[in-house]
Amino acid sequence: MTLDSPTDLDLRMLATEDRARYLLPPEAYFSPEWYEREQRELFARTWNLVAYEADLANPGDYLPVNVGFEPILLMRGRDGEIRGFVNMCRHRGMALACEAGHTDGNIRCFYHGWEFDPGGTLVRIPQRSGQFADVDPSQWGLIPLPTASYDGMVFVHPSGDAEPFDLWLDAYPAHRGPFDVSQLEEVFRLKVPIQCNWKLYIENHIDVLHLWYLHDETLGMYDHANFNHHKLGLHWVSDERLREGETRESNNRNRSLPRIEHLPTEELDVLRANLIFPNVPTSSSDTLTMTYQVIPTGPTTSELDIRIRAQPGSELTDAGRIDLLKVLVDEDGFAVEQVQRVLRSKQFGVGPLASVHEKPITDFHRDLLTFLP
Ligand code: FES
Ligand SMILES: [Fe+2]
Repeated sequence: MTLDSPTDLDLRMLATEDRARYLLPPEAYFSPEWYEREQRELFARTWNLVAYEADLANPGDYLPVNVGFEPILLMRGRDGEIRGFVNMCRHRGMALACEAGHTDGNIRCFYHGWEFDPGGTLVRIPQRSGQFADVDPSQWGLIPLPTASYDGMVFVHPSGDAEPFDLWLDAYPAHRGPFDVSQLEEVFRLKVPIQCNWKLYIENHIDVLHLWYLHDETLGMYDHANFNHHKLGLHWVSDERLREGETRESNNRNRSLPRIEHLPTEELDVLRANLIFPNVPTSSSDTLTMTYQVIPTGPTTSELDIRIRAQPGSELTDAGRIDLLKVLVDEDGFAVEQVQRVLRSKQFGVGPLASVHEKPITDFHRDLLTFLP
């Protein structure tokens, strides 16, 4: 597949019926009904990033996570495979695990003692002969969910009737950048609450126009005029290079971490920003690759889960951490929180969007609406 910049034809199309615009109403950013709908219809019906594989390093490790209203239990089986299940004991619906842990044997429900092995099979019912004599344990294993690993990350589809993960990813893996994450390790993780609807942060991430202005100091060394960005199925990839005359040292983030050794030379002055639909922005340079998943925590609140992988053994310095958080939190996070403050005004409205530089926002809205009947 070849990725080209917008053609004249694309631009003519944009000038007519497909002009970049908002397709979502203001309520989409604050109403409890929208929030509920997204939890049930979007997050419960898409593949979701739920962990990094390294979070479950050993057979017997388990981790409860939530996707929307769906409680999920990840377990690494004795065969080394990570599997996702509904985090629900099949006896009376107790959450089987309430916190991350490890078992060398089975995982035991603390309510009435049913036990499941790390593959999800029900292996013990206390008082079975007296109270459950007619029960066939093979019918009452944990409910499995489609689970996939990609780039060291674990994805789960909570509905159980998922399209294959590879199809879902579309052409994203071929264009997300020349990283081999198996040669990197996590050097930093931080969860940051932000006071806005999750979509505002995503829209900001795929808004090319703000790079010139909101980040004029922090990302001004990049050649935004030649920013390439492409939609790949539901996902989005982009890259830009340092402007002529700038050196890689002019990017602050390069101060703090060593260069990733396996990257090809032509990647050294490239900055990438991608989106795994719906809520996993990523960004990478020649020193790091990171995800900053935007997890909705309410109609007007979210949590940024920032995870950075870099050359093994490297350490993110305090100065490096401050530089990174400046862009993600102090600039982007602050900006979207301020939009959130204006959204409830009776006067709130969105004017014309930039034809090309803000077109990804229209695409994101359109994709989102396909999940919300
Ligand atoms: S709910 Fe788990 S054993 Fe009863
Ligand atoms: Fe930004």
